[in-house]
Amino acid sequence: MSALVVDNIGLLVTGDPSVGEGSLGLVRDAALVIDDEHVAAIEDAGAAGDARIDAAGRCVIPGFVDSHTHLVFAGDRADEFAARMAGRSYEAGGIRVTTAATRAASDDALRALANARRAEALRAGITHLEIKSGYGLDVETERRSCAVAAELTDDVTFLGAHVVPSEFEGRADEYVELVCGEMLDACRPDARWIDVFCEEGAFDPDQSRAVLEAGRASGLALRVHGNQLGFGAGARLAAELGAASVDHCTYLSDDDIEALSASDTVATFLPATDFSARQPYPDARRAIDAGVAVAIATNCNPGSSYTTSMGFCIALAVRDLRMTAEEALLAATRGGARALRRDDVGRLTAGARADAVILDCPSYTHLVYRPGVPLVAATLSRGRVAFSSRSRVG
Ligand code: NIG
Repeated sequence: MSALVVDNIGLLVTGDPSVGEGSLGLVRDAALVIDDEHVAAIEDAGAAGDARIDAAGRCVIPGFVDSHTHLVFAGDRADEFAARMAGRSYEAGGIRVTTAATRAASDDALRALANARRAEALRAGITHLEIKSGYGLDVETERRSCAVAAELTDDVTFLGAHVVPSEFEGRADEYVELVCGEMLDACRPDARWIDVFCEEGAFDPDQSRAVLEAGRASGLALRVHGNQLGFGAGARLAAELGAASVDHCTYLSDDDIEALSASDTVATFLPATDFSARQPYPDARRAIDAGVAVAIATNCNPGSSYTTSMGFCIALAVRDLRMTAEEALLAATRGGARALRRDDVGRLTAGARADAVILDCPSYTHLVYRPGVPLVAATLSRGRVAFSSRSRVG
C-alpha cells in the first residue's frame, strides 16, 4: 500500500456527523490518509505516509458534487444576458439559440468546449458532476451530446425534453413521441438519467409524465426540471414518480413541500440561476424546516446560469435562500451526492472517493464571508492533485 497523507489540516470537514463535531462532522488538527483513489482513514496531524501534502493549518472539505450542469453546448448568449439585465425577462425559448449553435458544432468542437468547462469546474473545487444533453433536440445531436458527456462523467442525463425545437412548433406531442422512441434509444447507452423540463413554455405534466415513464421503462432513473418560472406540477410529479431530484424549486407551494418531505426526492436549488435570471430567490429555510432533503448545484448553462462557481452558489444560498453556512456546504457536497443517489462522493470518510478541496482559508465560512474570491488552493480528485493554485501545495 502506498499512502498519501494530507497533513496539518486545521479544520477537516468530513461530511459525516458520526465521525466528528456537528452536522459537518468536523475534525480539528487532522490528517487525511489516502490509499490510491480512496480515503483510508482520518488520523491526527503528523500521520505517517509515503507522500505528504502540507495543508498548512487550512480547511479541507469534500470536493463539491455538482448535480445539475449542462456543459455540452456551443455558442454564446451574453447579449441575451445583457438584455435581461436591462429589463427583459428570462424565457425558456433562448434554449433554441444554443440548439442551433450546438447542432452546427463538430464532435471535436463540442468535446473541447465541454472539456474546458470541466477543467474550470475542477479549479472551482467540483470533483464530481452530472452533465445533461438538451441542446441538440434532434436524434443525432442528442446522441453526440450524451457521448461527449459520458467521456467526462458516469452521471449523464438525457434531456431531449428540454424544449420543443422550432421544427416541431405546434406539434409538441409528436416531438414527445420522438423523445420517447428513437431519441431515447440513441441516447440510452450513454445515459444513467432521464430529465424533462416540466414548465409552462416547455412540457406540460402529461407530456412530462410520458417522457419520464418511457425513460424508466428503458432503465433510466429520473430527474425533473420544475417550478422554475412559476408554480407548477414538476415537484409533485417528481415526488410521485420517485425521481431522485427536482431541480430549480424557485416556486414551491405548501403542497409541493408536503409532497417532497414525504418522498425520497431531493429539492435541488440553483441560486445562480435566480441571480442570472433576476428572479426571486426561493426560501430554502422553509423546505429544510419541513424536512425536505436539499442540494444546491451550479446549473452551468449558457442561458440562465453561466457559472462553475459552487462557492458563489453557496454564498447566495446563505445570503438569499436563508441556509446556514453548514447547510449550504452540506447541500453542495452530500446533498449533491444524494441527488445523484451516490454514497461514494460528497464525504471524506473511510471508503469514500478521495475527492477533496484544500481551501486557502481557516474555515469553510470564508466561502460565504469572502464572496467572489477564488479560495480553492488545491483540488484532489481520486487521490491525485488535479488542480493547485500554489507551488507549496503538492
Ligand atoms: O436549467 N430550465 C431549463 N434549462 C436551463 C436553461 C437553459 C438555457 O436557458 O439555455 C436551466 O435553467
